[in-house]
Amino acid sequence: MITGGRRLNGTIAISGMKNAALPILFACALNRETCVLENVPYVSDVLTTLSILEEMGISVEWRSSTTVAVNAAGFRPCTSPDNLVSKIRASSYLMGVELGVCGRTHIAYPGGCKIGAARPLNYHTSGFEAMGAEMDPPNGHGFSGYAPDGLHEGKITFDAPSVGATVNIILAAVLTPGVTTIINAAREPHIVALGNFLNMCGAKVTGAGTSEIHIEGVSALHGCTYPIIPDMIEAGTYMAAVAGTGGCITLTGVIPKHLESVTSKLRDMGVDVEEDEDSITVSSEGQLKAVQITTAPYPGFPTDMQPQFGVLLAVANGAGIIQEKVWEQRFAYLDELARMGASVPYNSFTAFTPGNQKLYASSVTATDLRGGAAMVIAALIAEGTTEIKNIHYIDRGYDNLIGKLREVGACIVREEVFLESTPLQAGSSS
Ligand code: EPU
Repeated sequence: MITGGRRLNGTIAISGMKNAALPILFACALNRETCVLENVPYVSDVLTTLSILEEMGISVEWRSSTTVAVNAAGFRPCTSPDNLVSKIRASSYLMGVELGVCGRTHIAYPGGCKIGAARPLNYHTSGFEAMGAEMDPPNGHGFSGYAPDGLHEGKITFDAPSVGATVNIILAAVLTPGVTTIINAAREPHIVALGNFLNMCGAKVTGAGTSEIHIEGVSALHGCTYPIIPDMIEAGTYMAAVAGTGGCITLTGVIPKHLESVTSKLRDMGVDVEEDEDSITVSSEGQLKAVQITTAPYPGFPTDMQPQFGVLLAVANGAGIIQEKVWEQRFAYLDELARMGASVPYNSFTAFTPGNQKLYASSVTATDLRGGAAMVIAALIAEGTTEIKNIHYIDRGYDNLIGKLREVGACIVREEVFLESTPLQAGSSS
């Protein structure tokens, strides 16, 4: 329940990045020694991942509220629990890990937000095939594959720079003899983070952050201590929130470079954004200029920020356009925004924001993780009290969202409704 119409002022400490923590946690399964991960976000996707690892014989120990030690000496490949695998998209990373460790994989269908018509894994599986794996066509049971002679080096060119496929091929190649090359790799900061983590464990990954990555296989990894990088999407979400409500918020523990496309778009909208070494201060009068937004892989404007900005464009002065180039079903939140009085026509890939819409408190639903974040921003802007349902989606990717927003003056409370599920009510995932 959010009572909106208040300006936000103060400081928010940004947590570790979910989409970096997930591949790194799965990468720990490649290692027989203990890896200590710091700045781990307490979000349900992370908790689901830890439960999957534990069910596969991996020991997991929270050493503080943000530090997790993982030891995979007892890892049992191909024993992943279907019910948890089917909750999160990142469980697809088990394919790369299992093939890399034992030349065989079997997982249930990974979960995933309904933000794309199919969310295929064909880049992943054809990459494994280029490394010598025979992949069964996906069937009712999920994905299986076998490398009769073990994986070998490969040269893999993606049609598009997929984050997940890039992660999966890196994971498969780390312990595979020879040098595997990925062309048209994703360049997101979380790919760099994965490469840095693996290299700290003794892997030989070069080129992460560029579109060509080389992975020279090593015989074994060793343990390390690694801090998860800050969550640029969490930071961007709070930047969008204060842009819409007005006020001044300083975000600490961020890497401003990761947010350049978001910062630049906010400045175009008339918002003041000051960058420091590891903090960003956003000041806004809540009066926004309309802009055009086109999502693209990093370093372009992130699709994971599109819904939050869709709310801003709905209330901005003048007409704007959003072109969603990554996921073809990422405008479902606009139907919820319509319940708050904003009419924004859209088709699969384009939304036409007429602007100058007034938002009214209402009862709305989080359609997915970022769609849920968009509803939070809309509710913070609207006068009156808005109820947001299905907030388990938001729990998947925002660490202590309610506490952090309260700290900067938001009127927000969580009303618990019992639903049977895993900790933090993990739903289908990003
Ligand atoms: N694609 C294919 N075939 C594949 C893989 C991808 O056609 O085998 C297409 C997809 O359909 C999509 C595009 O390539 O059109 C990009 O997909 P990508 O593989 O990059 O996405 P992902 O790895 O499934 C991750 C994030 C998403 C984020 C996207 C894009 C995780 C766990 N998820 O998904 O995060 O939107 O990259 O940046 O890292 C979120 O956090 O809210 C979220 C949805």
